[in-house]
Amino acid sequence: MKTIFSGIQPSGILTLGNYLGAMKHFVPLQDEFNCYYCIVNQHAITVPQDPAVLRENIRRLAALYLAVGLDPNKVTLFIQSEVPAHAKLAWIMICISYLGELERMTQFKDKSDGRGESIPSGLLAYPPLMAADILLYSTDYVPVGEDQKQHLELTRDLATRFNNRYGEVFTIPEIRVPELGARIMSLAEGTKKMSKSDPNQGAFISMLDDADTITKKIKRAQTDSDSSVRFDKEAKPAVSNLMTIYSLCSGKTLDEIEAMYEGKGYGAFKTDLAEVVIETLRPIQERYNKLFHSTELDDILSAGAKKANEVANQMLYRAEKVMGMARMQ
Ligand code: TYM
Repeated sequence: MKTIFSGIQPSGILTLGNYLGAMKHFVPLQDEFNCYYCIVNQHAITVPQDPAVLRENIRRLAALYLAVGLDPNKVTLFIQSEVPAHAKLAWIMICISYLGELERMTQFKDKSDGRGESIPSGLLAYPPLMAADILLYSTDYVPVGEDQKQHLELTRDLATRFNNRYGEVFTIPEIRVPELGARIMSLAEGTKKMSKSDPNQGAFISMLDDADTITKKIKRAQTDSDSSVRFDKEAKPAVSNLMTIYSLCSGKTLDEIEAMYEGKGYGAFKTDLAEVVIETLRPIQERYNKLFHSTELDDILSAGAKKANEVANQMLYRAEKVMGMARMQ
């Protein structure tokens, strides 16, 4: 059975972008693959986090993973920091990375922009940690949104570099990006990614927003200058983004949506869009509310960490051995 690994940061409440670009796709994969899904709290601390908020966000994310339909009997769900091999292999990955290639990462450039001397070094070391996450599990496929493409390329480069230097230890992973929804855009600016850390609350829909909030945010969402509901990413990025969300939440194709709203303008389209988003999130939120306070959630995370530690420690040991770090050959 081939292996899947993916991770999400507990750095805020997940957005509809996280759901449509990544999480939604995790669910059908659990029937076909050996899946590891991780709450990457060590990635989250590359920028300062309030401890109480971080603790809550970790639990929220765990509950959301299960609420979208992941079955703990089929997948391994765990918290990154409970598997120390991640940080240990990350150090090895840092040692084989070049400063130049890390500084070229667009996410590093965006996040460090304007910080002068005070760029947290964790931001630079973030992609080698992500490489370690993936490589510890002999991962074949990594389902992610488009923004992670560059990090995946670096992971492949680091794995290849390591294997060339020390022998075949790591599987070279492949990225899996959804055809539609790989980059859900901000509701405020059709050319900017929807992000959970956006200071403008109106720019994203959170997976835990209530029906009124969702309706308000969609009513206020940016549209394009003409009033036709037509998919054209270049000329009409804002409406194309809303149509993508509509399609992924309703199962209707873009052509069907275009036909439904021909000559009707944005008003009717937005009213219906709010409804399909609310109906998509409603059952997830209901399950989430039951799971959040349950002890079942802790049991699942403990069992996940146990399984992940067993697999990850073996791979870490193989890597340390070929590098000459272990006492025994
Ligand atoms: P993170 O936490 O920013 O996002 C989690 C997942 O959601 C996807 N995503 C989006 N997809 C479509 N449209 C959007 N607007 C959007 N915003 C986010 C992301 O691509 C991602 O799949 N570095 C990763 C976490 C990570 C990881 C890993 C992923 C750490 N280790 C190992 C895969 C494998 C991140 O920051 O994702």
